[in-house]
Amino acid sequence: MNKKILKFFALLLLMIATIQTQAQKSISKEDIQEQKIQKLIKKMTLQEKVSLLHGNSKFYVSGIKRLGIPEWALSDGPHGVRAEMNRHDWNYAGWTNDSSTCFPPGTALAASWNPKLAYERGLVLGEEARYRKKDVLLGPGINIIRTPLCGRNFEYLSEDPFLISAMAVPYIKALQSKDVAASVKHYLANNQEDHRTTVDVAMSERALREIYLPGFKAAVTEGGSYTVMTAYNKFRGDWCSENEYLDREILRKELGFKGVLMSDWGGTHSTVKAALAGLDLEMGTDIKDYNEWYFANPLIKAVQEGKVPISVIDEKVANILRVMIKTKVLDSKTREKGSMNTPEHQKAAYNSAAEAAVLLQNNGNLLPLDFSKIKSIAVIGDNATRKHCGGGLSSEIKALYEITPLEALTHKFGKNITINFVQGYEKQSTFQEGGNIGQSNTDKVDWKLIDEAVAVAKKSDVAIVFGGLNHDFDTESYDKPHMRLPYGQVTLIQEIAKANPNTVVVIIAGSPVELAGIVHRVPAILWAWYGGMEAGNAVVDVLSGKVNPSGKMPFTLPVSLEQSPAHALGNYPGRNLKVNYEEDILVGYRWFDTKNVVPQFPFGYGLSYTSFNLDNLSTDKKVYGKKDIIHVKFTVTNTGLRYGAEVAQIYVSDPVCSVLRPAKELKAFEKVFLQPGESKNIELSIKVADLAFYDEAKKGWVVEPGEFILELGNSSRDISKTLTINVQ
Ligand code: BGC
Repeated sequence: MNKKILKFFALLLLMIATIQTQAQKSISKEDIQEQKIQKLIKKMTLQEKVSLLHGNSKFYVSGIKRLGIPEWALSDGPHGVRAEMNRHDWNYAGWTNDSSTCFPPGTALAASWNPKLAYERGLVLGEEARYRKKDVLLGPGINIIRTPLCGRNFEYLSEDPFLISAMAVPYIKALQSKDVAASVKHYLANNQEDHRTTVDVAMSERALREIYLPGFKAAVTEGGSYTVMTAYNKFRGDWCSENEYLDREILRKELGFKGVLMSDWGGTHSTVKAALAGLDLEMGTDIKDYNEWYFANPLIKAVQEGKVPISVIDEKVANILRVMIKTKVLDSKTREKGSMNTPEHQKAAYNSAAEAAVLLQNNGNLLPLDFSKIKSIAVIGDNATRKHCGGGLSSEIKALYEITPLEALTHKFGKNITINFVQGYEKQSTFQEGGNIGQSNTDKVDWKLIDEAVAVAKKSDVAIVFGGLNHDFDTESYDKPHMRLPYGQVTLIQEIAKANPNTVVVIIAGSPVELAGIVHRVPAILWAWYGGMEAGNAVVDVLSGKVNPSGKMPFTLPVSLEQSPAHALGNYPGRNLKVNYEEDILVGYRWFDTKNVVPQFPFGYGLSYTSFNLDNLSTDKKVYGKKDIIHVKFTVTNTGLRYGAEVAQIYVSDPVCSVLRPAKELKAFEKVFLQPGESKNIELSIKVADLAFYDEAKKGWVVEPGEFILELGNSSRDISKTLTINVQ
């Protein structure tokens, strides 16, 4: 053997040895951790153990001082660290130093289709949570957007499990890298707010596996979420907090979850059943004496009576200690200290809002507006001046500041342009928690306000209507009563469009609204979401072209409510507190595309001020085995004159299959940023295994051999290139 070969083998051996010692080291780190946990548990009395398993106030859990275990601090929520609440009631504590960075909520995050922004958000939330001395941040909320009416759609991400997973995983990883535990919620099927605490959800095993579970699975197995929050509702007859199948079988056994399973606030209903099913932590129960909660004295009694084995208690305590150790709760010296309201945090909030905006319509290229040529603008509508960060209930944020669109317009252009603000329409509702929206008739047309607005629109170069919803509609605890634009906005917009052909409508909302009454009347529609603290700056920068819109709809926008699957089939909100998800796997665009229902705007849709071309779709092979990875290549070219970003989406369909498959399903995407004229070659990979459907009879995933069609496009209904591959 020559010297070179000998050297090569020596090097190889050295590498193998290093890898082995590294592996041993990491194994032993886990082992040491588990030993530490067991040692601590051995020192605890039953009373002490149980004290770790229930709240001692609204958002805290007792520690065990003599063992160096501090009190555990939990806080909402998904798009900012919530202001401090009183310990024993739902009022705010009135602190003066708990204002925080407020990001645009979930649907806006998903609309960016940019996982890097999810990561950035996670880092900021982690830093701010640490600064506020919080250990667990209660988010992200990742339930499927099943119906346009769900009050909490704005907090959630999408109707598509792939997009949800792509955003939730980096969010969780980043948050937890700052020594704060995420709490992915609400496990499972909290897809409506009406009767959320009592409704019993029935769905097929296939719908569970293909639609409702994947986001949670990714959050736990890829994101490594340290905690999971159960949903309020029942699933197949049992509350989610005591659901043996969801909690023990799937979450613990199948997904290998070793973290803390906590109830939603007030979502625990039993002691023995919940304890055995795998719930670790009871939060928010509405009984004044904390010792009387299900997981307090009654749990001690259940152990003493032999109804709950002590090993089950130890398992729960171990789960809690494990999360504490991973987030350095027991090691305050090396723990992240955090920071609050830094310029970087505010920039992250701005980026998130700017990349979320979806340009739905831009006839005659009315947008972007050239503010150097405009002399006057009519700014119309309640959402031009309304602040939204403080609404929505548990996700509400006391934002350090919130810039409204009118403020941003005035600040950026007020010196040179006459800005004429008129109310246009008024908010006619008030929010009442758990009840109905404060005023039943929210559709009143106020002609006095409309006439005023029309007069101003007539004398201005451009009219911008800031409409949409507010958190009386997009809110926890109550579903929207309808999908319409409330407060007579459609009439207002129609009248403004008659008065001024240069009318732009900006929709501020977090869930679908009907646009049928306005799409044919106005040239330009921009969907700007709730934009967080930087809302106004971001939306004005998009209107002026400083930022080129690159958001895409994270849900289908139906023409009318009846088009969307749960409503087309009459399966919302259910009957006698039972709801059957009869649309099965055909949720969102899977329904629209399979049933050939043409929506107002499809899933994944969004325009830009430049244009793009998607081309040269190819795969590394034509024939694949079931364990292979498909390497999909294509080029994206910016064919227009402005810098911008396109979201290239790969859908897959299985045209011949023994079971019904959706017309297409999203399997990969990439947001590509390009200078004018620039092209980029993109390569994405899709596991053949991910083309499978869930076979109920076999209780497993099946890829049937045959043809699969890959479709490259920029929405579920705008496909530029297709390609057929074969799976053997
Ligand atoms: C919500 C949760 C929230 C909790 C604590 C519940 O009503 O459903 O999402 O984290 O309250 O505020």
